[in-house]
Amino acid sequence: MSVEAGGRSDALVLFGATGDLAHKKIFPALLSMVGRGHLDVPVIGVAKAGYGLEELRARVREGLEWLGGDVEPAALERLSGLLRFVDGDYRDEGTWKALEAALGRSARPLHYLAIPPSLFPTVIEGLGTLRTAGRGRVIVEKPFGRDLASARSLNRTLHRVFDQAAIFRIDHYLGKEPVQNLLYFRFANSFLEPIWNRNYVDSVQITMAETFGVEGRGRFYDEVGAIRDVVQNHMLQVVGMLAMEPPAGYTGMALAAEKEKIFRCIRPLSSENLVRGQFGGYQREPGVAPGSQVETFAAVHLQIDSWRWEGVPFYIRAGKCLPVTVTEVLVELRRPPQVIFREALSRDTVRFRLGPEVEIAIGARAKAPGEAMVGEEIELAVRHQDPEEMEPYERLIGDALVGDATLFGDEASVEAAWAVVDPILGNATPVYPYEPGTWGPREADRIVAHHGGWHSPRASRLLTS
Ligand code: BG6
Repeated sequence: MSVEAGGRSDALVLFGATGDLAHKKIFPALLSMVGRGHLDVPVIGVAKAGYGLEELRARVREGLEWLGGDVEPAALERLSGLLRFVDGDYRDEGTWKALEAALGRSARPLHYLAIPPSLFPTVIEGLGTLRTAGRGRVIVEKPFGRDLASARSLNRTLHRVFDQAAIFRIDHYLGKEPVQNLLYFRFANSFLEPIWNRNYVDSVQITMAETFGVEGRGRFYDEVGAIRDVVQNHMLQVVGMLAMEPPAGYTGMALAAEKEKIFRCIRPLSSENLVRGQFGGYQREPGVAPGSQVETFAAVHLQIDSWRWEGVPFYIRAGKCLPVTVTEVLVELRRPPQVIFREALSRDTVRFRLGPEVEIAIGARAKAPGEAMVGEEIELAVRHQDPEEMEPYERLIGDALVGDATLFGDEASVEAAWAVVDPILGNATPVYPYEPGTWGPREADRIVAHHGGWHSPRASRLLTS
């Protein structure tokens, strides 16, 4: 982590402090930061909750205990001590006055917008009225807009109040250890480079499967759907790491340049390259509109028009209520050019498991012991799961506090990622029903029909479901 110009933020303002994201991801990250001695600035929660600081403290404590894991009493005590609370509507002037007072002498607060996207403009405008406007920083949650046009408009709104270097577009996948490892593994070794292209790679499949549904987030999810929720951001970021050219160095600018370039090489998706699905029972979820056509599953075929990847399909399959909770990349290599052994050879593979555990595995064939020259599939695998590992939100908030944008989305690449999915947003194709616990609608098979079908990752050893 490098400290960029401007120094450390001296307060963290959390808009949406009583919401689901704050509760499940942000407060656990803050607790862990406090525990490691990485957070000692005031944390000012803002929300319209109708209560005061003590209630917020109690809610944070209950939330952390409910999530399980180690809640170290001393760290919780210190986090409670850092908490402040401003209760109010973002549209009321009084809320902004109260925030101004709570900020006290803070010179460079970091504002975290953990709020529904429809509220971004109101809050950003409010931030522009603060004494610290022009010096503060802002973290904007994904999805960054609803489509290309709204992402552009959001960028314009942000620029009215914040400099480019003060805007942190968060995608927590970029803070994940195994996602960073994709980049590291590719560019810290030389053995992959000769085969990492259209001459040797046959296809790439990325699966993001979750056994659970929308978990009480029906209202949010029904406005978003799987394409906006995870494909435009998490999945495309993974494609970026797998497919980009070597960056000129490990800096935010160099990474952003390569990411923008590769996203611009991806052909905008069309309805032939998309199958959408919805799990049975979705429409009964609280907050979901009756008759909703929003997808909880999406399968897409991406085509990358670049020197390296021309003709290599990148398939993505992401969905809720699937049989396992796993995110995995499978790169399949071409078959050997000549049949020497009389058996059908499987393809060699490079497999990256991105969660819940972390694995890198090379799949190949080796001769099975015995007289005959017949083989078996083997995997050379490295596994790594360190329970002490930093959670992505902790890493990213820590980076934003010191102004390090290396692991955040930049304006051009986020807009380029929207351009890829823009033509298939809305109800561009029918949404096919699927049974919870299955791999989505059968119609999705047509996406990979020419490449041997979907690879369905095995269940995690770390999870029971
Ligand atoms: C979030 C999505 O961004 O990522 C959720 O909104 C999804 O729908 C989650 O479940 C998955 O994150 P992770 O880190 O558990 O893979």
